[in-house]
Amino acid sequence: MDHLVSMKQLTEEEIMALLERAETLKKLGIREFPGKYTVSNLFFEPSTRTKMSFEMAERKLGLEVLPFESSFSSALKGETLYDTVKTLEAIGVDALVVRHPEDGYYEELVGRTSVSIINGGDGSGQHPTQSLLDLFTIKEEFGSFEGLNVLIAGDIAHSRVARSNADALTKLGANVTYLCPTEWAGEFHSVDSWDEVIGTSDVVMLLRVQHERHEGEELFTKESYHEQYGLTEQRALQMKKNAIIMHPGPFNRGVEIADSLIETAQSRIFKQMENGVYIRAAVLEEILKGRH
Ligand code: NCD
Repeated sequence: MDHLVSMKQLTEEEIMALLERAETLKKLGIREFPGKYTVSNLFFEPSTRTKMSFEMAERKLGLEVLPFESSFSSALKGETLYDTVKTLEAIGVDALVVRHPEDGYYEELVGRTSVSIINGGDGSGQHPTQSLLDLFTIKEEFGSFEGLNVLIAGDIAHSRVARSNADALTKLGANVTYLCPTEWAGEFHSVDSWDEVIGTSDVVMLLRVQHERHEGEELFTKESYHEQYGLTEQRALQMKKNAIIMHPGPFNRGVEIADSLIETAQSRIFKQMENGVYIRAAVLEEILKGRH
């Protein structure tokens, strides 16, 4: 694999192989990757989990990690992303993890640079490593995907997490349903109410309202959103006993999810973060394997 930009590019077999490798790394520990490789993390949008867990995986693999701060970079002088990537290619970087607000930013890079691109999130497009760590967490819990009922609730239209997971989970045989305000449904179809789905879902995945991708006025107050679209304590009581709660973070307590549910026994939110390190190590290994 030269690049990882979208879940759409991966076959079912490729997804399962990455999940199995992450499982092995979790069991045996992440070892140094043979050879000498240099990577850098180019984040043009805020990030805590994705950036730090990539960096953790990179360090555990023994890679050289060149620090990059977008707010002190030549992007502020008007340099394009393409030119920044070509600069890092010339300097000798092997792989770049890139997060950028523009949908499909990677299309102008792939095929025009010898640096491997790993997409750490493009606008409202894709976030493949988040999807893989979500799949890893689901597989750890249920063993397989076929026939699982997965509910994704929140700001679906603006969410690269929803889009990546919709592609992947459907490919793997899960039944994916969506719950969101009609204004934020995008190409997805929302069920009418929580009552329709809460009692039959195996996975309840909540998403943050993507204020930074909205234009114009907000439709809800925190309270009204929680009441209509959030996982409230009452709704959580109707969940199946073995169902799990997921959220990619960052979460807003009391908005998309009740404060008390973040660390409840059914929550796998911090497990997702832990699993992200192994998934990112598995992806980096796979990408670097293809380089001489
Ligand atoms: C998500 C993202 O950046 O797309 N967060 C993450 O990577 N863990 C979701 C979000 O920002 O709401």
